[in-house]
Amino acid sequence: MVLLPFPSTTLLISCLLCFCITLSQAQQPSFRPKALVLPVTKHPSTLQYLTHIIQRTPQVPVKLALDLGGRSLWIDCEDNYASSSYAPSRCESSQCHLANSNLCTTECYQSAPKPGCYNNTCGMLLENTFTQTGTTGDLGQDLVSIQSTDGSKPGKIVKVPHFLFTCALSFVLDGLAKGVKGIAGLGRSNLSLPSQFSAAFSFPKKFAICLSKSGKGAVFFGDGPYVMQPNVEISKSLIYTPLLLKKVSTDFATFAGEPSSDYFIGVKSIKINNKTVPFNTTLLKITKEGFGGTKISTVQPYTVLETSIYKAVIATFAKALSGVARVAGVRPFELCYNSAAIGSTRVGPAVPQIDLVLQSSKVYWRIFGANSMVQVKKGVLCLGFVDGGMDARAAIVIGGHQLEDNLLQFDLAASRVGFSSSLLSRQTNCANFNFTSAA
Ligand SMILES: *[C@@H]1O[C@H](CO)[C@@H](O)[C@H](O)[C@H]1NC(C)=O
Ligand SMILES: *[C@@H]1O[C@H](CO)[C@@H](O)[C@H](O)[C@H]1NC(C)=O
Ligand SMILES: *[C@@H]1O[C@H](CO)[C@@H](O)[C@H](O)[C@H]1NC(C)=O
Ligand SMILES: *[C@@H]1O[C@H](CO)[C@@H](O)[C@H](O)[C@H]1NC(C)=O
Ligand SMILES: *[C@@H]1O[C@H](CO)[C@@H](O)[C@H](O)[C@H]1NC(C)=O
Repeated sequence: MVLLPFPSTTLLISCLLCFCITLSQAQQPSFRPKALVLPVTKHPSTLQYLTHIIQRTPQVPVKLALDLGGRSLWIDCEDNYASSSYAPSRCESSQCHLANSNLCTTECYQSAPKPGCYNNTCGMLLENTFTQTGTTGDLGQDLVSIQSTDGSKPGKIVKVPHFLFTCALSFVLDGLAKGVKGIAGLGRSNLSLPSQFSAAFSFPKKFAICLSKSGKGAVFFGDGPYVMQPNVEISKSLIYTPLLLKKVSTDFATFAGEPSSDYFIGVKSIKINNKTVPFNTTLLKITKEGFGGTKISTVQPYTVLETSIYKAVIATFAKALSGVARVAGVRPFELCYNSAAIGSTRVGPAVPQIDLVLQSSKVYWRIFGANSMVQVKKGVLCLGFVDGGMDARAAIVIGGHQLEDNLLQFDLAASRVGFSSSLLSRQTNCANFNFTSAA
């Protein structure tokens, strides 16, 4: 494989327009979905959130790990990728510009032409964000099928004929759950799933995630309603906070000068049972070099805090729960309790509430026991936050356990995120979407 950089060119608006028009014209004119839905399950041993799409001709289901901040979709093309509808994206094509790529695979000698090995193909950087393994791959496109929804149940299957993705080699899959063939990126980028689906069907650039611990959660592309049984509509009662753009990416898989595709929010302070946790809040600001700040992640299973914040949170929480007998820590957790000594509520174990205070003292993300405590074994509950060390690239990474049974809507056009807080308080949860199709 020969990779040659060529000078990056300014994206012509006309290219972008052509691309969008091509995508939307190719749809069946009779039915235009307002929203789409993908099921999401949690893999029990790796704690990865998994989904699957239907791709190729003939169609096959492709199991993928979900990366909220991921730039694009990448899939292993080395192992058994067969499809008559695959097309490589050429160097300097409009798709290549959309991908902001300045790499070009001029010639491939590894095999006869096949997905992942064509001459004159747009090169991409890609990363297995679970293992932080980065490499390059080829940009290509293929048919993707996905279920539409009216927000309360699945509808017709719809097709996106030229869905752009990166063809990767099999080794990048190491560290992903068994059977997973790639990573579905939902990040802030024109190639992410939300951007491509919105462009394909001309619906608002919005998507929502609702993760479940043991049931079938969902990702919705497009606007609400988002209805969970028994008929609870969630999109109307969200609290909003601005999404912050991190101008300098510290990820591997980015071209120089590209902004981060991760979603950052402006946490100003942390309160535990109304008491401010004492730490240096300068860490919560995003620096010019791209460090600090609070990111939301489906890659981290538990919220990761920079060391000084972690220590302060542990100390404040321990003090607020000092009446309850502690037991030995269970890695990676330090603060653990005998669960028999802790009562239970609708929103989980009765422990001090943790508030992430946002743009004003009245706007906060409240974390109740179901999202703060982890049952590590029978009789032992631990505070589910982990120490990220001193040189953490973000000060706070809100991880999967803290996101479960909360619906988060990312509104890319308005650059804000809406969050529901625990759906358990409304007697529903993220496994309550009706995925049963009408016969
Ligand atoms: C991505 O799309 C946005 C509009 O949605 C556009 O403003 C931006 O220039 C595009 N970026 C690239 C790199 O194509
Ligand atoms: C790429 O081009 C070279 C030289 O023309 C040729 O030898 C090679 O077989 C081609 N590879 C593919 C995958 O088409
Ligand atoms: C927190 O403060 C609010 C009012 O500011 C009060 O209503 C609430 O009871 C307090 N909660 C705790 C646990 O102290
Ligand atoms: C907080 O951290 C910043 C940056 O690390 C440092 O410049 C500042 O002096 C610290 N403030 C306090 C009160 O420790
Ligand atoms: C789920 O949706 C199907 C139609 O897609 C419907 O037949 C069924 O009654 C729904 N289930 C519930 C519990 O509402």
